[in-house]
Amino acid sequence: MLTVKIDGVEVKVEPGTTILEAAEKAGVHIPIMCHHKNLNPFGACRVCLVEVKGSPKLMTACTTPVADNMEVITNTEKLQNIRKTLIELLLINHPLDCPVCDKGGECLLQDLTYEFGVTKVRFDEKPNNNPVDHTNPFIERDIDRCVLCGKCVRICDEIVNVEAISFINRGVETYIGTAFDQPWNCEYCGQCMSVCPVGSLNNRVYLFKNRPWHLEHTETICGYCSCGCTVIVDYEDNEVYRIKEDVDKGINKGLLCAKGRFGYELINSTERPVAPKVKESGEFKDVDYDGAINIISDKLKSVVEKYGSDSVAVLVSPRLTNEEAFLAQKFARDIIKTNNVYSLETADVLPDGNYADVESSDTLIVFNIDITESNPVLGYSVRVAGRREDSDLYVFYPNLTPLKRVASEFYVYKPTELYKEAEKLLKALDGENNEYSELADKFKNSEKPVFVFNPYNLKDVEIAKQISEKVEKVKLVPAKAKNNSQGIVDMGCVNGLKPGLVETEKSFDLREGIEGDKIKALLIFGENLAVKPEYFDIINLLNDLELVAVTDPFFSETAELGNVYIPVATFAEKDGSFTNFEGRVQQLNKAVDKGVFSDRKVLVDLMNKFGFSVKDDVNEIRSLIEEENPLYKGIDWNGGLVKYPYRIKDGISAEFSIKGDGEYELYPAFLRLHSGSYTRRSYDLSKVYGEPLLEINPEDAKKLNVNENDYVTVKFGKDSYKFRVNIDKKIPAGTAALPKDFKETAPLFFEGSYLKVDLIKHI
Ligand code: SF4
Ligand code: SF4
Ligand code: SF4
Ligand code: FES
Repeated sequence: MLTVKIDGVEVKVEPGTTILEAAEKAGVHIPIMCHHKNLNPFGACRVCLVEVKGSPKLMTACTTPVADNMEVITNTEKLQNIRKTLIELLLINHPLDCPVCDKGGECLLQDLTYEFGVTKVRFDEKPNNNPVDHTNPFIERDIDRCVLCGKCVRICDEIVNVEAISFINRGVETYIGTAFDQPWNCEYCGQCMSVCPVGSLNNRVYLFKNRPWHLEHTETICGYCSCGCTVIVDYEDNEVYRIKEDVDKGINKGLLCAKGRFGYELINSTERPVAPKVKESGEFKDVDYDGAINIISDKLKSVVEKYGSDSVAVLVSPRLTNEEAFLAQKFARDIIKTNNVYSLETADVLPDGNYADVESSDTLIVFNIDITESNPVLGYSVRVAGRREDSDLYVFYPNLTPLKRVASEFYVYKPTELYKEAEKLLKALDGENNEYSELADKFKNSEKPVFVFNPYNLKDVEIAKQISEKVEKVKLVPAKAKNNSQGIVDMGCVNGLKPGLVETEKSFDLREGIEGDKIKALLIFGENLAVKPEYFDIINLLNDLELVAVTDPFFSETAELGNVYIPVATFAEKDGSFTNFEGRVQQLNKAVDKGVFSDRKVLVDLMNKFGFSVKDDVNEIRSLIEEENPLYKGIDWNGGLVKYPYRIKDGISAEFSIKGDGEYELYPAFLRLHSGSYTRRSYDLSKVYGEPLLEINPEDAKKLNVNENDYVTVKFGKDSYKFRVNIDKKIPAGTAALPKDFKETAPLFFEGSYLKVDLIKHI
């Protein structure tokens, strides 16, 4: 340890610590502008200059490492004058439009101007007056307000790894822009905007809607994917104005993706009903909440009396909290007395590796998933490992992804070839000499091998299982899809498993139950079954059931097929917990109230109607969970990692299959902006990606004689489907990618996830 004195305060620090870090430890404030703790030291603004005893030169605190017995002085008149002059220089051309700048009130330049008492501008220069750039759908760029701290450029390069923006020109001509002023080649993550200390990069979804000092803040967990990012919900009068990160909080370390950051408009959506609805003579009419609960409970009682308990089924969505999912299965099992609890989630695969394992991995394989799109913040961790000199990243996928920039090797294969290559890799792991021998040796002999894969593709799960048997130290990372994909499994909401993964005596198949006319009443908590390809053929049979009660924040396609609908809260409107892909349980905190109840309240009220006494209280429900779920006994509900009994179930076996005999191999695309029914409700996300696009290679586009945005007919067997095309050279010729989670694509993907189709220009 080194001993350093900062303004007379002595601290002991590790070698390599900067003066700035040592000062923080000593509780001494040094002003900064271009420094960010998650970025490489830059030393551009000089605002952090300090005096070091014995040194004739001033030093930048953010870049200078301390030496043993160093004495630092941070606050002399000379230093303050220099800092003041630096701020004055920054203000020479800076438009003083603070009253109309969205950054007003949380701008570092404003704060430093105040701190150093800059009351006059001594230089006689005119403020810049360049046009404001609105070519990025989410980020406004006003180069006149830029102080050239470089944080945006560095975060886009060092962490996001996209390099969408850079310093353009030199000297006084320098500005932040895109290469040749082309449109932003951007992931819309908003990371650049989040680190901009001034009003140069602004959130367009929030722009001019509120002032920061009016906003209240609640820390909670993102309600989109299973990364489990900590978000700060900013709101006033129950209206959410923006979602932000906190660099000091959460597993995401201040990073978010486009969905998490900009996709919050669904919470405020005017399309959200507040009154429950009941179908009468084919028409829905609004009823009050108690009326809806009475109708559901009365109907359930009569169905159970007439047809028995097993005529009822409960379907649970991974959007529910752990507490809600637990109550849903308890209602089915302990009150209705049926094991017919179902979800579209999987317990074949359970969490194993975590973020730290991924980031510190020395050999990492990402197999058949575009992790940068499906789980963007996990994607950043993969990029961290990929960038490290002492680690190697190998990616197998049907098209190039942003991981290409950091991968040691990126194997692009058509789906039919991809699995043959995987077989070769498995054989190489068994000692066969082939083109993957080197990779196999490295992977097997690694200290920290990691395998990231798609847990919903059974063949991929089987491959992961084999990998785990052949590579002793491997950590598996199943990239689960939704915010509580794992939690609802743990809470006993997948077929055949009770809370704590305890097996039930009987299993249940929803399709069989509906097709075989065994199910007469179906309670659907949050799931939008009607857009799921797997149920496309039987979804209309819901009309024949005696009761289909649906809860959802929106009156979904599934709700339309039901006979009772109760609008419920989104993630920002409730307390509880989610369990992320790592198996980490995290606390959810209610930020706003939109005048609807949560699924938790609906379940508590239904249970009470059946004479079961339980309070709508998160802590009380957690006590019940801890009593009945051994995995959650004594868990820390805000950050605890669940210990799972297995990683991949035994006996998983699957064959890759591709149906059809067309010329093009069609495979499901992963989308950052869309992954389900929530994202389509956020206006700005939908503006950027409003309909499912068929991605094809430029060569194929030429062959088909189509241009960007033209329509193409996808022919599969006798059926034809029409989609707009997106021409992208990352898609290999002879293949086409299409997102699966749209109601328009559900009928096609009902045939299978991988299809051989024909493409014809649509006229
Ligand atoms: S939004 Fe993300 S990808 Fe786009 S420029 Fe900013 S940091 Fe880079
Ligand atoms: S746009 Fe913002 S973050 Fe980027 S260099 Fe300018 S002031 Fe810094
Ligand atoms: S990565 Fe997932 S959890 Fe994180 S902000 Fe994006 S959608 Fe939300
Ligand atoms: S904060 Fe140290 S040089 Fe900018």
